[in-house]
Amino acid sequence: MSFQRRRETGCRLAAGHALFFLAIALLYAPALAAKKSYVVYMGSHSHGRDASPAAFETAALKHYSFLSSFLGSEERSREAIIYSYTKYINGFAANLEEEEAAAIAKLPGVISVFPNKGRKLLTTHSWSFMRLEDGNGEIIPSSAWDAGRFGEDTILANLDTGVWPESLSFSDLGYGPVPSRWKGSCENNTQAGVPCNRKLIGAKFFSKAYEEYVQPIEPSMKTPRDHDGHGTHTLSTAAGNFVPGAALFDVVPGTAKGGSPRARVAAYKVCWPTVGDNGGCYDADMLAAFDEAIHDGVDVLTVSIGGDPNDYFNDGISIGTFHAVKNGITVVCAAGNSGPSAGTVSNVSPWIITVGASTLDREFQSFAKIQSGKQFKGLSLSGPLPGNRFYPLITGAQAQAANATAGDAMLCLPGTLDSGKAAGKIVVCLRGQNGRVDKGRNVALAGGVGMILCNDIASGNEIISDPHVIPATHINYEDGNVVFAYVNKTKNPLGLITAPKVVVGTKPAPFMAAFSSRGPNTITPEILKPDITAPGVNIVAAYSEGTSPTGLPFDKRTVKFNVDSGTSMATPHVAGVVGLLKSQHPDWSPAAIRSAIMTSARTRGNTLTPMLDGASLKKATPFSYGSGHIRPNRAVDPGLVYDMTTEDYLDFLCALGYNQTLIKQFTDEPHLCRDSLSLFDVNYPSFSIPNFSGKATLYRKVKNVGSPGTYGVTIHHPPGVTVSVEPKRLIFDRVGDEKGFMVTIKASRTNITEREFTFGEITWTDGRHYVRSSIAIGLGN
Ligand SMILES: *[C@@H]1O[C@H](CO)[C@@H](O)[C@H](O)[C@H]1NC(C)=O
Ligand SMILES: *[C@@H]1O[C@H](CO)[C@@H](O)[C@H](O)[C@H]1NC(C)=O
Ligand SMILES: *[C@@H]1O[C@H](CO)[C@@H](O)[C@H](O)[C@H]1NC(C)=O
Ligand SMILES: *[C@@H]1O[C@H](CO)[C@@H](O)[C@H](O)[C@H]1NC(C)=O
Ligand SMILES: *[C@@H]1O[C@H](CO)[C@@H](O)[C@H](O)[C@H]1NC(C)=O
Ligand SMILES: *[C@@H]1O[C@H](CO)[C@@H](O)[C@H](O)[C@H]1NC(C)=O
Repeated sequence: MSFQRRRETGCRLAAGHALFFLAIALLYAPALAAKKSYVVYMGSHSHGRDASPAAFETAALKHYSFLSSFLGSEERSREAIIYSYTKYINGFAANLEEEEAAAIAKLPGVISVFPNKGRKLLTTHSWSFMRLEDGNGEIIPSSAWDAGRFGEDTILANLDTGVWPESLSFSDLGYGPVPSRWKGSCENNTQAGVPCNRKLIGAKFFSKAYEEYVQPIEPSMKTPRDHDGHGTHTLSTAAGNFVPGAALFDVVPGTAKGGSPRARVAAYKVCWPTVGDNGGCYDADMLAAFDEAIHDGVDVLTVSIGGDPNDYFNDGISIGTFHAVKNGITVVCAAGNSGPSAGTVSNVSPWIITVGASTLDREFQSFAKIQSGKQFKGLSLSGPLPGNRFYPLITGAQAQAANATAGDAMLCLPGTLDSGKAAGKIVVCLRGQNGRVDKGRNVALAGGVGMILCNDIASGNEIISDPHVIPATHINYEDGNVVFAYVNKTKNPLGLITAPKVVVGTKPAPFMAAFSSRGPNTITPEILKPDITAPGVNIVAAYSEGTSPTGLPFDKRTVKFNVDSGTSMATPHVAGVVGLLKSQHPDWSPAAIRSAIMTSARTRGNTLTPMLDGASLKKATPFSYGSGHIRPNRAVDPGLVYDMTTEDYLDFLCALGYNQTLIKQFTDEPHLCRDSLSLFDVNYPSFSIPNFSGKATLYRKVKNVGSPGTYGVTIHHPPGVTVSVEPKRLIFDRVGDEKGFMVTIKASRTNITEREFTFGEITWTDGRHYVRSSIAIGLGN
């Protein structure tokens, strides 16, 4: 699992790293040989937020004695335990033999025992695209920014790679005192520590599990400081200050800002360098961070980390977010970058907001021209070609070194290009296998002046603006074929790459990124996931100056702002909007906030036609965008919400078959399972019937959060079925009233033989608010 950032890591380079770290791992082999680290999850603690440090101490002692009754001595259990979770989450992480882990799982009081897995981490024009400001960066009056006072009073945090505190996005100029309810702090004990200010009010790191499992971290690097860039990027996207003049390579001028630019921020560093196939973010470290963030008093958590989804209580993110939501924190997580295949969405728990990625209407365009007169639109953030003139063109294969294969040279792999052939030319490289930026570097090493990067058939139309180290542009598969054919067939082929230019207003936008992970939800298909989509392609935000914009070892540049893509980048956009809602409606539950965001989303792009899927160029479906593209100005005033409480999530677990004994451990009060509850009736703001068998009935209730009034229903029937809603009118006499309704779905076509999904919508409206829910139905089993 990884950061949900979309970056092709150079395979060969990564392989080199893996060998290096393998040597380290072997040194530590004796400690790792038999034992593995496990998380032992035991539910909740009954002490509250005001518990004393003594209560936490007592909780830790209980873990030692619990384990020592099993391992034989307290000394052994102290050696084995890596973390004790003592604040809200009850449990510990420990090194255990497989048999020990299996036996502990059977003990009373233990909910689950699972291996401590390593997960991966999965501009500012975005806010104008989302209509918080106009095209000139002027704030639109009565926008969600106005209503939510720019997120003032809200505390927003991420679990990520840490933070670069010197970034102007986290300057505290003009901020008042830190809210008194805040209990967090910054770890600033070393030279590379992170000092707090009135904007950046928390920064902590969690590395014990990573160090136990992967490699020790140098003492000077044991700090919440970001040496990767990902964490600084996501945190500043969610809540960075207004920073005028945030230029990136002279291509992107403008004022940078996050979604809740006046919110306070905190960084919980849980991700460390990945090694080989191991992700760098460990379950046991993340659980410690969640426990701490709840205690510190965070309001909104954004988590751009993911991997294959697991059962709810065998998954660190799922457990950590459950406790966060139970304590009133709204949690936003990335859907993953494993699209466009079906069933790839991760972070599917019904208590979190799961975010897909789509494009903006902004491109960094750089054209590849060939002397025959044709030109092809590409994307790039590189510098301009010297002299802006034509240069000889050569394909990677034609520049093949004597000791390399033509196939490898075509991909511009390291050491495959002959400088005798490539020097002074623009090299045409094929995408795939190694990193896109790495290809440019190999061309530069062979003396090339520029690169035209052409998609292979698999990547089709998906092109990306990278900060290449030489003048370069990235073009799609079809155009790439024309360029290859021209170079192959022409005696003295010549080409030119135009300097990148920002173009705003491109159409259609948004469309779903091909990489964004897709439904159906493979853990509980009755819950439609992802929930929402937000900008996640070519996003500009603050960056760490402790690394280069490409993160590659040869790149010595540093930048204050960088462009990045992934559901990682989409997620903090939603978190920023949550901050605005939280400032405006401090009493709304995490579910009400999610409902407001989902039911007010749009499913059409800027051409007023349905949003497209970047992978197929066909109509996108709720399996990629959930409820649609976020619309903050509507989300602040949704009219109605589908609310849920912790009790409702416990009922959801009951419906999944978790028994009363187990459920009691998650909660301080006893919970009686409602026997009648079906998974279809979870009060979610969308509808999903994975295996439809001719007729189904679902129940929901909506709460008025706008003004008294009458709502009527409109239905878009999914092809193949008819949907009816009873009652057809809901009358709300008071704000706060909750009304139930029943949805009945019947087959309208009986000749279905193949498995297929069909999609529709239910919308409640009072003429001013449109409360829309997606419907997804699986036909033919
Ligand atoms: C953080 O640590 C640095 C050096 O260790 C020190 O100069 C600085 O004053 C500290 N900042 C705060 C806010 O404590
Ligand atoms: C080919 O030889 C050069 C020079 O000896 C070396 O740098 C390069 O890595 C070799 N390439 C391959 C693919 O082995
Ligand atoms: C150009 O030539 C290379 C081999 O040198 C080949 O792999 C490629 O398919 C050719 N492309 C076109 C479009 O002719
Ligand atoms: C609840 O489930 C656990 C684990 O599946 C089982 O050990 C226990 O006996 C069950 N309790 C009841 C009351 O069914
Ligand atoms: C629902 O359909 C899927 C096929 O997509 C199948 O794998 C699954 O077993 C079905 N579930 C039920 C309960 O029939
Ligand atoms: C199924 O029936 C519908 C009309 O009810 C018809 O339009 C469609 O072509 C039929 N499909 C198949 C696969 O027979």
